[in-house]
Amino acid sequence: MSSNITIQKAIPEDAQGIGEVFYKTWLATYPNKEFGVTTEDVDFIFKDIKKADGSKYASLPDNTVYFTTKENGHVVGVCKLVKRDDINELKSIYVLPEYQGRGIGKMFWAEALKFFDSMNDTIVKVVTYNKDAIEFYKKLGFKDTGKIIYDETFRMQSGVIPPETEMVIPANNPAA
Ligand SMILES: CC(C)(COP(=O)(O)OP(=O)(O)OC[C@H]1O[C@@H](n2cnc3c(N)ncnc32)[C@H](O)[C@@H]1OP(=O)(O)O)[C@@H](O)C(=O)NCCC(=O)NCCS
Repeated sequence: MSSNITIQKAIPEDAQGIGEVFYKTWLATYPNKEFGVTTEDVDFIFKDIKKADGSKYASLPDNTVYFTTKENGHVVGVCKLVKRDDINELKSIYVLPEYQGRGIGKMFWAEALKFFDSMNDTIVKVVTYNKDAIEFYKKLGFKDTGKIIYDETFRMQSGVIPPETEMVIPANNPAA
């Protein structure tokens, strides 16, 4: 890990950089002929990226946090975590392609472990054909539950919903 990568909670001024990380990383990750996801689908989702409103980062509910990693002030990775009463959810980790494989994902995971309640299960949903991310999550200790999810909010402009697989790290709960 190069030492000039920092990690911090997202602030409103990060909105543009976060949007660009999501957009570039989605373009590099999700278009897939077999599953019918196109680059146009991704372009459509991020068409208003320039108008990103960062105010939400200043008023997130207590159970939600966004972290960013930055190099020289530029956002190069983003992670969203949600902690509910009964479950921890790793909503997303996106690292710019040219920064992947340098330990940034693990930096986010270290923050997630501090934020989450270890007495609850931790889940992540991963697109089934995103094999690299599945391997990454396995490395962190997640196991595939076998559950496949079609999330309507993830429906593309073309009509396709990429299938997601659910992975879990069980609660560290001796009473369970
Ligand atoms: C998946 C992703 C978040 C991982 O972050 P990263 O910064 O590249 O991962 P790290 O460098 O921290 O790697 C952590 C560990 O996972 C392993 N790993 C990462 N990708 C892997 C892969 N494709 N296959 C096997 N192991 C992998 C690393 O070798 C490392 O292992 P180590 O602890 O033995 O050194 C990142 O590559 C990414 O943003 N990918 C595209 C977007 C995406 O798919 N996000 C997930 C959506 S749910």
